Amino acid sequence: MRILAFEGTAHTVGVSIIENSNILINLKHSYTTQQPEGMLPRDVAEHHASLIKELTLKALEKSSMSMKDIDVIAYSAGPGLGAPLQVIKTFAYVISRKNSLTLYPIHHSFAHLIIANYTADVDDALYIYVSGGNTQLIVLKDNLYPIVYGETEDIALGNALDKLARELGFGFPGGKYIEEYAKKANKFLEMPYTVKGMDLSYSGLLTYALKLKGKEKVEDICYGFQEHAFAMLMEVVERALSYTQKSQVVLTGGVALNQRLQNMLKEMAEDRGVRYKKVDNEYLGDNAAMIGVAAWHLYKHNISPIKADAIFSKPRWRIEQHLEW
Ligand code: ATP
Ligand code: FE2
Repeated sequence: MRILAFEGTAHTVGVSIIENSNILINLKHSYTTQQPEGMLPRDVAEHHASLIKELTLKALEKSSMSMKDIDVIAYSAGPGLGAPLQVIKTFAYVISRKNSLTLYPIHHSFAHLIIANYTADVDDALYIYVSGGNTQLIVLKDNLYPIVYGETEDIALGNALDKLARELGFGFPGGKYIEEYAKKANKFLEMPYTVKGMDLSYSGLLTYALKLKGKEKVEDICYGFQEHAFAMLMEVVERALSYTQKSQVVLTGGVALNQRLQNMLKEMAEDRGVRYKKVDNEYLGDNAAMIGVAAWHLYKHNISPIKADAIFSKPRWRIEQHLEW
């Protein structure tokens, strides 16, 4: 089965073609900005609208296919920013109507998890999903039903990194700048550390770090923030591992690109005799391949696609409800 997949819930617009579980092509383009307000939904929607057709034509051309070779469409239906979601939904609708194809509405976060199963050999993992909008520890029951064991009580790790980066004068997205600056630090700054059982809170840490602006070196602020934020995460992961008894652990989502975070988790997992699984960087941040692979996964679990007229998008959508269409 050949799937044409679209992603566009936030900063990245992507188009991918999947044949069964094989990723044939995975194209993406990310919106970045230096403006002080950060990412504006209207601008992101415009970014996606101006690129999606061109990316689709390129994906078909590069895999020597036409729309006649495609069996089903997959699109990211949420959660995400309203305006970009509308762009993806409209494009998916038009293309499915025009070619009489059905569609799989894919939950973006579920896709971030499932890509690990198909590209990193994951089958019994505690998933650590860290991104711009989410920080969650998840287990998949029967490979289909997410159970959230722990999460942030306020802002997501990626969002905290982006806010700190913005205030320090870096562009959006800011996680990679924080990582680069942290490498050049030479002083460890004590900061607030907030873990509550299986959950964590990043807002106090962020507020504290922001107050250090102008008083401490940017490198040291970045380093202190990262060390505290990641150590908090490691504590809840360790607790979740002992509770769930999972044999594998895997990082997914954009923040998982952070090398320091990867190393911390790898070390902790090895100490506990848990297998650390690594998803290729190409599939960590937002991408359309994960949307296509998730659609294949649903198809394999006997879940049927929907007709074009039933298309929808949901800016707010809990992962536990990913099959509520
Ligand atoms: P969500 O999955 O919650 O909808 P998202 O769609 O915004 O999130 P992702 O691509 O999954 O997007 O994650 C983006 C986040 O990853 C941003 O907050 C960005 O700063 C962060 N990020 C990217 N690279 C790094 C890095 N090297 N270190 C830390 N964070 C990073
Ligand atoms: Fe994402």
